[in-house]
Amino acid sequence: MRLVSGIKPTGGLTLGNYIGAIQQFVQLQDELKDAEFFIFIADLHAITTPIEKATLKKNIKDIAALYIACGLDPERVTLFVQSEIPEHNQLAYVMESTVYMGELERMTQFKDKRQKQTEGIRSSLFTYPALMAADILLYDADIVPVGEDQKQHLELTRDLATRFNNTYGDTFIVPKGYQPKTGAKIKSLSDPTKKMDKSSDNQKSYILMLDDLNQVKNKIKSAVTDSEAKIYYDVENKPGISNLLTIDAALLKTTIEDRVNHYKDMSYQDFKLSVADHVVSALKPIQEKYHALIKDPSLDAILDAGRDKAKMFAHRKIQKVYKKIGFQR
Ligand code: AMP
Ligand code: TRP
Repeated sequence: MRLVSGIKPTGGLTLGNYIGAIQQFVQLQDELKDAEFFIFIADLHAITTPIEKATLKKNIKDIAALYIACGLDPERVTLFVQSEIPEHNQLAYVMESTVYMGELERMTQFKDKRQKQTEGIRSSLFTYPALMAADILLYDADIVPVGEDQKQHLELTRDLATRFNNTYGDTFIVPKGYQPKTGAKIKSLSDPTKKMDKSSDNQKSYILMLDDLNQVKNKIKSAVTDSEAKIYYDVENKPGISNLLTIDAALLKTTIEDRVNHYKDMSYQDFKLSVADHVVSALKPIQEKYHALIKDPSLDAILDAGRDKAKMFAHRKIQKVYKKIGFQR
């Protein structure tokens, strides 16, 4: 069995990225002893919107260090940078020649982004799901752990794999998505009906994994809740409280019911302080490891080794795909 996933280095990683994605990668790595893992930094995806060179370079290294600081074991996981494997682009073109315009037009992430920005939308933002499908199908992934916002892209990947297989004969594994039971969509702290998103203008709406820990506490303390002063889980009517309960349950690896029982007679203030403590306890050791790793030259050696391994796999796969299509003499 093989698992494949990635994160794009568009900004600092958020608590949503941690709970929805990285924490799952680590848990699956520890549970599925026989599985192979390909986890990458989706840097090609980062230029679908404008980004400064220095920021991009820093973000790529940061994600690599954070992957390891969070517990991914480079001995178990092939860690690499997407742009170092040109086969991603090669297969992306094949996927662009498999997907229909109508399918891409239906992608909600594209529709949302297009609504916020009317001019200067890059064509790569539109074809993004074709590249993402290539990322997955290139490595014969069986399972793709992602947060809820990526479910639609994954469904499209499954459709594209099936369509290609029907046209050219069995080539791709049709992958399955995998979402965490708790925390597949962590919400904004300032507007808990929306996703926690690093591209928000309001810095208080998200927690970055590398935020100063006092700031983290303050952000949780000032999270928007409601005026009922009663703690229970109800996403519709109490989105703020429900989001904090979700964060707490996910970080403590327990259920939301367990957290509701624990907090039900507390004041909002004490509840928030406790959640803040749990977030700080989760982030503190990660930050310490990150600061040691980011200065360590072994990080580059890990990415070099990951690149070489991924490259071998990707090269073989693209040869097979080209042959099926009729490109090879
Ligand atoms: P991105 O930062 O968009 O590349 O997302 C990387 C991974 O983090 C994907 O699997 C997303 O689904 C996941 N993710 C991003 N934001 C959140 C969030 N607020 N809650 C849960 N998962 C998230
Ligand atoms: N599109 C994903 C996101 O924005 C990141 C990503 C790119 C990805 N390629 C992938 C995730 C392949 C899983 C598998 O979150």
